[in-house]
Amino acid sequence: MGNNWLIEQKEDDKLKQEALLGQGKLPHHVAVIMDGNGRWATERNLPRIAGHKEGIESVREIVKASSQLGIGYLTLYAFSIENWKRPSAEVQGLMLLLEHYLKTEIDELHNNNVRFLTIGKLSSLPKNVQKLIKSAQEKTKNNKGLTLTLALSYSGRWDIVRAVQMIALDVRRGKISPEDISEERFSSYLQTNSLPAPDLVIRTSGEMRLSNFLLWEVAYSEFYITNKYWPDFRRDDFYNSIESYMQRERRFGKTSSQLRDEKSSSASNYIQWVVNALKK
Ligand code: IPE
Ligand code: IPE
Ligand code: MG
Repeated sequence: MGNNWLIEQKEDDKLKQEALLGQGKLPHHVAVIMDGNGRWATERNLPRIAGHKEGIESVREIVKASSQLGIGYLTLYAFSIENWKRPSAEVQGLMLLLEHYLKTEIDELHNNNVRFLTIGKLSSLPKNVQKLIKSAQEKTKNNKGLTLTLALSYSGRWDIVRAVQMIALDVRRGKISPEDISEERFSSYLQTNSLPAPDLVIRTSGEMRLSNFLLWEVAYSEFYITNKYWPDFRRDDFYNSIESYMQRERRFGKTSSQLRDEKSSSASNYIQWVVNALKK
């Protein structure tokens, strides 16, 4: 069955989370480029796969912390389409770890109300992994807590091209006309269509690039890049990234003063509403 993450939570960690929540608005969707497993292992004279294995511990921690905090969506970039070009021993090792993760974690995820999803070209994955993914998705589909999405054999350009192909087919069949293709309509053809756009994108190991992750979706995401390797990225590092996010001003193209005006007018609207309600 696995542990209940709220019951097992330590007192000092609860206090840290409460302090964090008091500082601002949580990101609704956090997406993570989990990088640096290989370097973590190489620096310890270990085979690269040892870094991937330790990386799973970080996945466990960050999933738990997200769920405890009440974050809505966590999306983890676990394997890109380009990663298939790695040496076959490493790819095989990664697939075995993925299989192990799915077999051993799903009950605990389910027990903690997590909804499990994937994005990516699943048909490229080994058959047994595909089966495990399907059953995990089926089992957790009605859960209302954290939505955990693993990007597996995923690439942003692949998803965009796939969407374009499906739109072209629907135009040819007469289901939609070219004028109907809006940003919203286009998004609805992407595999991420049930996820909100990421508010915060974290990348570990210091690389300043997207590596083909969620290209369309990150248009207005905030970025947080840390030098820590993924296997070293744990709870407190995650809290730091959220704290950094909370300190930012997201302008979406507007000016700071416009945003201040909007905020104060919504506050005065609220007060007006209360005054009117009390009159009745
Ligand atoms: C990220 O770690 C995990 C995957 C891409 C599967 P890397 O394996 O890329 O580690 P580095 O970047 O080589 O250190
Ligand atoms: C990005 O990491 C993909 C994942 C984290 C799954 P990579 O290690 O593959 O990215 P590059 O090659 O350094 O850009
Ligand atoms: Mg890497």
